[in-house]
Amino acid sequence: MAGDYVIIDHTYDVIVVGAGGAGLRATLGMAEQGLATACVTKLFPTRSHTVSAQGGISAALGNMGEDDWRWHAYDTIKGSDWLGDQDAIEYMCREAIPAILELEHYGVPFSRTERGRIFQRAFGGMTTHFGEGTAQRTCAAADRTGHAILHALYQQSLKHQAEFFIEFFAIDLIMDTQGVCRGVVALELATGNIHRFRAQFTVLATGGYGRAYFSCTSAHTCTGDGNGMALRAGLALQDMEFIQFHPTGIYGAGMLITEGVRGEGGYLTNSEGTRFMERYAPHAKDLASRDVVSRAMTVEIREGRGVGPSKDHLHLHLDHLSREVVREHLPGIADMARIFAGVNVHKQPIPVLPTVHYTMGGIPANVHGEAVTLRDGDPNSVIPGLMAIGEAACVSVHGANRLGSNSLLDIVVFGRAAASRAAQIIKEQGRTQPPLPRDGAELALSRLERLRNANGSEPTAVIRERMQQTMQSCAAVFRDHPTLEEGCKRMAEVYQRFADVQISDRSLIWNTDLVETLELENLLDCAITAVESALNRTESRGAHSREDFAERDDRNWLKHTLSWLDASGKVALDYRPVRLTPLTSEMKSVPPQVRVY
Ligand code: FUM
Repeated sequence: MAGDYVIIDHTYDVIVVGAGGAGLRATLGMAEQGLATACVTKLFPTRSHTVSAQGGISAALGNMGEDDWRWHAYDTIKGSDWLGDQDAIEYMCREAIPAILELEHYGVPFSRTERGRIFQRAFGGMTTHFGEGTAQRTCAAADRTGHAILHALYQQSLKHQAEFFIEFFAIDLIMDTQGVCRGVVALELATGNIHRFRAQFTVLATGGYGRAYFSCTSAHTCTGDGNGMALRAGLALQDMEFIQFHPTGIYGAGMLITEGVRGEGGYLTNSEGTRFMERYAPHAKDLASRDVVSRAMTVEIREGRGVGPSKDHLHLHLDHLSREVVREHLPGIADMARIFAGVNVHKQPIPVLPTVHYTMGGIPANVHGEAVTLRDGDPNSVIPGLMAIGEAACVSVHGANRLGSNSLLDIVVFGRAAASRAAQIIKEQGRTQPPLPRDGAELALSRLERLRNANGSEPTAVIRERMQQTMQSCAAVFRDHPTLEEGCKRMAEVYQRFADVQISDRSLIWNTDLVETLELENLLDCAITAVESALNRTESRGAHSREDFAERDDRNWLKHTLSWLDASGKVALDYRPVRLTPLTSEMKSVPPQVRVY
């Protein structure tokens, strides 16, 4: 008992925080290899945000035509606008093939070709022969691929006796004085009890921070919790300024309409009925990379060719597709368009708008899922005991812009890699867990105490909305110095206001306001590092498009941004070079080129 908290201690080989696709793939892999594994998750596993991933998962299986993982790697490098690390990209694209065949064996119900192979569709930026043809590389379970993967991974994790702590909110890491991560402290939502999890490895698989924005396809739970924990532990985040807008969020509602629609032949039009993407990306058209399509849509709207009474959105057509294609491959989309936009997709276009979808930045990690430390010294030295995977991490395989269907791939490949690494190290070093430091829960408990007793004048929801509106208007598809400077100023104010936050119900039990406030603090940390990183990067690259610095500047900016945050809300920035050298001689380096689609 500490203060009025009941503290319950647990010891495992591995603690995985988060039960989305990355967390579950790691949990399953660890448990399968005999490690005592616990997964701590704020949501019931199958409600994690991976459930809403629609279009699919990429791998050069070649089921629908010729393919090669090197072409996949080339596309990913080009999609990343050359900010992706080429060794990590090689690893991901090569490992995609066994990782997906494993998923098939774990029971993921992929859609099938007539010959019984996994069905694959076209997706943006995915080509054959290093940019020549169109690849059908995205493996799909209709338009519910994330849902299918999540259920299979959860069932397999249970089969292998992984333990789940469900509706437990991770508050902070336990770091010792040597900089070793020793576990995590979590709040049990149903009881208000505190749980201290001691582990040889703690894996952060907490997802992205899309909810820093007002309009996004991300679930309300995508609050950058792992990123906040890393910053409070004094660790750096990487490339936080790169935030992806998906071209086709439903206008007014924000829900995702999968890129798979355009992969099946759907297309965008403006108020003149013109297929405008032909002008912006003559070759790939509607299947250009997401940053390219989102910018084109924003220009169309700005120049007065938007649709609707306010001319502020565009149309996505699939009314020309056969009923069979929609029924077999896009059934969820037809439902979503009907429910959220009142549209019958067989007769009417869907109203769409670019909407925040994915955050490329996160906790720097290597291809084994190990978190790496980057200040003062070897840029590749690992933080002992800490791993980061999935959208919470930045490996960096997506660089400045992620290709559609590379995110489900990232979570599976690096969840699997983290499990192999942890098992290998525990096998080599044995089970070695010194007692926890005496103040092992202090960071978490003082945070909880501060917020639980927060009796200021600003309700959590008011501060959150101010942050979301600031990010939406000051760090959008197009950026420039005045708007970003304004964004930094406004975010600094919002950050200071958080010191005066008010929690409505200060009991520990059933206090959703407390959890939302803990989440908001994590989001604020992500938002302030993102906007400061964006102001400092004076070039345009991928999703970071500066109107005042319209060109990519490889001479000065072929480097990753690192950001740290101190307790007063001050951001410190540093940089490290992009790795252009592949992992093995099986792939050639792809030097920076002009990026056209
Ligand atoms: O459009 C989609 O189905 C989204 C896929 C992704 O973000 O990878």
